[in-house]
Order: sequence, then C-alpha cells, then structure tokens
Amino acid sequence: MTDLDPAKLPRHLAIIMDGNGRWAQRQGLVRTSGHERGADTIRLITTECAKRGLEQLTLYAFSAENWKRPRAEIQFLMRLLKKFLIRERPTLMENDVRLTAIGRLDDLPGPARAELDRSMQLTAGNGGLNLCLALSYGGRAEIVDAARALAREVAAGRMRPDDIDEESIAQRLYQPGPDPDLLVRTAGEMRVSNFLLWQVSYAEIYVTDACWPEFDLVELHKAFAAYAGRTRKYGGLVDPAPASLQRR
Ligand code: IPE
Ligand code: IPE
Ligand code: MG
Repeated sequence: MTDLDPAKLPRHLAIIMDGNGRWAQRQGLVRTSGHERGADTIRLITTECAKRGLEQLTLYAFSAENWKRPRAEIQFLMRLLKKFLIRERPTLMENDVRLTAIGRLDDLPGPARAELDRSMQLTAGNGGLNLCLALSYGGRAEIVDAARALAREVAAGRMRPDDIDEESIAQRLYQPGPDPDLLVRTAGEMRVSNFLLWQVSYAEIYVTDACWPEFDLVELHKAFAAYAGRTRKYGGLVDPAPASLQRR
C-alpha cells in the first residue's frame, strides 16, 4: 500500500458515493445489487479512515432529491439503511467510530429512523472518527433551515440582523464542525449535486471514474495522494509575489 504521510491526510473527508446503479448494470445485475455492494464499501472505507486517524468522514448516502426515484428503489434503500445500521454496530464500536447524521432526518421512514437513533446513542461516547451520514440531505435545504433559525432569533429579539455573519450561519448548519478538506466523487460526474454547498467553499475536489462499489483502498489512497500534492491557498498567495508585482 502507498506510504501516506499522516500530516498530509485530510482532517475531514466528504464523499459523494455515486455509481452504484451503473456498476450493477455493467455486471448484468439489477441496480439494487449495486447499493448492496456499496454498503460493503462503506465499511471498508470507514474502517480505513478510522485507522488513519481522520477526524470526520461525511458520506452522501441519500439526497433530498433522491426521493424522486421509483418507489421500489427508495424502499430498498431505506430497508438497506436499516439493515446496515444494525449490522455495522460491532464494527463501529471496535473502531471507536461515532455515528452521526445530517439532513431532514424526520423524512426517513420510522424503522430506519429508529435504528439510526439507536446507533447514534450507542456510539455517542466513541472518541475516534465521526462517521456522518447525509440522509435526505440537501445543501440548499440546510442553508434554508439555518436562515429560518436565524430569522426566529431576530424575530424574538435575541439577535439583530447585523449580528448575522458567517460564523452564526455556520453554527446553525445541521452539524457545525470542521469543513471538508477533501471532497471525493466516484463514478466520474463533475458536479456537487447539492452536497455541503456552504462547507465545500475551499475543499479540494477529486473525481474518480471508479464506481462506489469498486472504490477500494487503492482508490482511497490515490485520492489521499492527490490531496497531499495540492497547494491550498484560500485566496492568498503561497510564495510572496515577485518584487516586480508587489504593490508599493
Ligand atoms: C449512488 O448511486 C447511490 C445513491 C444516490 C442513493 P446511484 O444510484 O446514483 O448510481 P448511478 O449514478 O445511477 O449509477
Ligand atoms: C448524489 O448522487 C447523491 C448521492 C450520492 C446520495 P445522484 O446520483 O443522486 O446525483 P445526480 O442525480 O447524478 O446529480
Ligand atoms: Mg447517481
């Protein structure tokens, strides 16, 4: 396996897990087999991120827009989520992983929501990786929800409009915390599909053609290596500009 400098790993990795259906179709299987295999990939990647000491792994598991899919596929995904949450508890505990979630969680069917709450409670004391599942998640909806929370505070007289700043918005997102350093998308699509719109402002983006069910440790390490080679500038300059360009 690649030698990875722990100092150059992202603190927070976010992944758009795409291509389950395409992977399955290519194997001559039904789309849902791709989702099943994708769940196995989640275990593999979570365990590796926990072992490498990442602070957070945020996985786009189901978008606010995915409710547009055929009923049968949604039903399959929600049942798979429930099974996954039950099945993965021992692995989460073994690896000191804390499970959390972002999104409009009240949209989830009762049984999936109940198992999610149980897993979150069970793992709440774990101090290792924060595995954050984005479920019924939309980046715009998240910003709308934060705006409503702020508007309520202004209406109640606890805040003035001018008190609203980046920090107060960030604090009202579903889960305040470090922004993703690296955003990975599998299956080749060059778009963010409404994922973490606020938080990815300065994330490094890495897109691979590998579909999520075939994304493995080699692929993950390739993404880490690409990230290690990036220069993050945040709008500033890394090296001082040549004297001829400096303003006097
Ligand atoms: C990602 O795979 C899983 C979800 C969005 C739930 P897709 O189901 O989007 O797979 P493709 O993009 O159709 O191949
Ligand atoms: C993004 O994938 C959502 C998840 C990975 C959960 P989609 O397959 O829904 O995205 P689009 O439709 O290709 O933009
Ligand atoms: Mg897709």
